[in-house]
Amino acid sequence: MAFIHHPLVVISGGASGIGRQCAITLANEGYQVAVIDIASGEKSNLSNLKNYECDVTLDSPLSQTIDKITQDFGQAIQVGIACAGIAPAKKIISKNGPHELALFNKVIQVNLIGTFNLMRLCVNSMMQIAPDQDGERGVFIQTASVAAFEGQIGQVAYSASKAGVVGMTLPAARELAPFGIRVVTIAPGLVDTAMISSMPEQVQASLVSQIPFPKRLANPKEYSSLVLEIIRNRYLNGCTIRLDGALRMP
Ligand SMILES: NC(=O)c1ccc[n+]([C@@H]2O[C@H](COP(=O)([O-])OP(=O)(O)OC[C@H]3O[C@@H](n4cnc5c(N)ncnc54)[C@H](O)[C@@H]3O)[C@@H](O)[C@H]2O)c1
Repeated sequence: MAFIHHPLVVISGGASGIGRQCAITLANEGYQVAVIDIASGEKSNLSNLKNYECDVTLDSPLSQTIDKITQDFGQAIQVGIACAGIAPAKKIISKNGPHELALFNKVIQVNLIGTFNLMRLCVNSMMQIAPDQDGERGVFIQTASVAAFEGQIGQVAYSASKAGVVGMTLPAARELAPFGIRVVTIAPGLVDTAMISSMPEQVQASLVSQIPFPKRLANPKEYSSLVLEIIRNRYLNGCTIRLDGALRMP
């Protein structure tokens, strides 16, 4: 495949929050955008943005969705962005008994295995793209969290899943380097989405008070702006970038 002027980007979790903002920002930049989410996405007026309903934890259904996307757009995937995630709070032991194993399993399934599932299928599609002058075929961007490093009480499953995402970054980048495919992870701090706004106001205020500067939640646009830089800046590879206003949770 020759150089593609309007690269195809696949974004999981793009029906809301960070993923949704990435979809809009990239569509406005002229990319062809396919959103995959378990929830049906808001209809957009952008002709280059299409929504696909799928659960990222599933093997064949995600594979079929990726096939449908590449057929619909008539091109292979050049950028994959994994934003689908869940963050239920649960202690290992509470007055109701131990943490349900099924819940731990679900968080790992969505956040870690769902990210890998998207990565393997996007990379498989990227292999059909002829490397450009710099030898690059594509880039896969993962979403971790500062909880991968400084998890809080009640975040044992979430932190484990996000630490897994951070852990995949370097081995994936090393393995895919000979094919000209980069892998970069973003570890956000506190971003202004439903994940945070669903918390009681005093909890939000107490979280914000811990951010050194800027003393506010991150705007999803600050995430999508970093995504654009990762796509453009080829020297970013095999690393996890914190986007957190210097927040270090106690
Ligand atoms: N908001 C924050 O402060 C924050 C901080 C650090 C990391 N993150 C991470 O950023 C990512 C996006 O979070 P957000 O704040 O935009 O949350 P959000 O809840 O607004 O968006 C998450 C999206 O993932 C989708 N999703 C969930 N399970 C899925 C599945 N099995 N298959 C497909 N889609 C699924 C949801 O339907 C939703 O649209 C998540 O991975 C989250 O862990 C968020």
